[in-house]
Amino acid sequence: MKRIGFLTSGGDCQGLNPAMRGVTETLFAAMGKDVEFIGFEDGYKGMIYGKYRKMTRDDFSDILNVGGTILGTSREPFKKIQIVDPETGLDKVKEMIKTYEKLKLDCLVVLGGNGSHKTAHLLSTKGLNVVTLPKTIDNDIWGTDMTFGCHTAVEIATEAIDRTRTTAASHSRTFLVEIMGHKVGWLALEAGIAGGADAILLPEIPYSPEKVASLIKKNTKAGRKYSIICVAEGAITKEEAKMSKKERAAYYAKTGTASDRLAKALSSLIPNEIRCVVPGHVQRGGNPCAYDRRFATELGAAAGQLILEGKYGYMIALRGNELVPVPLDEVAGKLKLVPPDCAEVQYAKALGISFAD
Ligand code: F6P
Repeated sequence: MKRIGFLTSGGDCQGLNPAMRGVTETLFAAMGKDVEFIGFEDGYKGMIYGKYRKMTRDDFSDILNVGGTILGTSREPFKKIQIVDPETGLDKVKEMIKTYEKLKLDCLVVLGGNGSHKTAHLLSTKGLNVVTLPKTIDNDIWGTDMTFGCHTAVEIATEAIDRTRTTAASHSRTFLVEIMGHKVGWLALEAGIAGGADAILLPEIPYSPEKVASLIKKNTKAGRKYSIICVAEGAITKEEAKMSKKERAAYYAKTGTASDRLAKALSSLIPNEIRCVVPGHVQRGGNPCAYDRRFATELGAAAGQLILEGKYGYMIALRGNELVPVPLDEVAGKLKLVPPDCAEVQYAKALGISFAD
């Protein structure tokens, strides 16, 4: 008999439900009635504050194509490294361990991003059996070539660029399309290439607004009626990169989003009419694409197999064409940034896409 706890933590993405179904179907197929599932509500909060429910096979059926998460989610519980909840005085880690022990869990399955992996690793070091699955539209989890959710978000972000293009062409306007990704720019990079953007601005490659302006001027001179600039949410200018973290936060609080700041800078450099488009959370919303359904399901199946083998303390990762377990202590606390000289950036540059660097 095995009893497995589940939680989804951090920003949601497409593929969370199929991933959970992948785990449960694999375990039901192998163990039948000898496996039970407990679902924690709203991420680690459910473990801390004892909010959970027993889940049946029916709870996991008909969710393969459904976006969001049937369990609810919340951001990781240690914002500002507060282990003790100031309102209740509870030690959050101790509460999670107590809940795990009270429920006599054999394993906790965590579907999460970077923050959630830090917590999963912490719980694993405290003796809990933990298996994790890498979710996020940002594809920024260290140790895996791909996270589920990213492909669907690339589709949506690319469609946002495509739809912007026709109105940009009709009105002869320059559009700044702001794509999610605060610290890491994979989503903007992929959508920018797929959408044929003139420039892609990433958090990892500080840019110069003057270079963006020259590119737009060049396009106009060459008879192009419009330009599309794909701006990652965390795109940063060379000047901003020189500021301390604190100075930058204060400056951003006064000046709005990355695309707002660029629009303002461009307005004093070029005469073109400029508009900003921010698809925002739409990129995380709706149903998973076929790739994410299949990929999340397979990751779930691989996690199920690991649980059957009694191997804990791992994240299931994609490496090349294989799904492999990666120890949590290798994953926790690291970010998979876009290397400024990676092949994708090089190809984009070869295609004539500017990074304004
Ligand atoms: O989790 C990924 C992500 O969508 C990032 O791309 C984005 O910067 C952030 O989450 C937004 O977070 P929130 O949903 O808390 O506004």
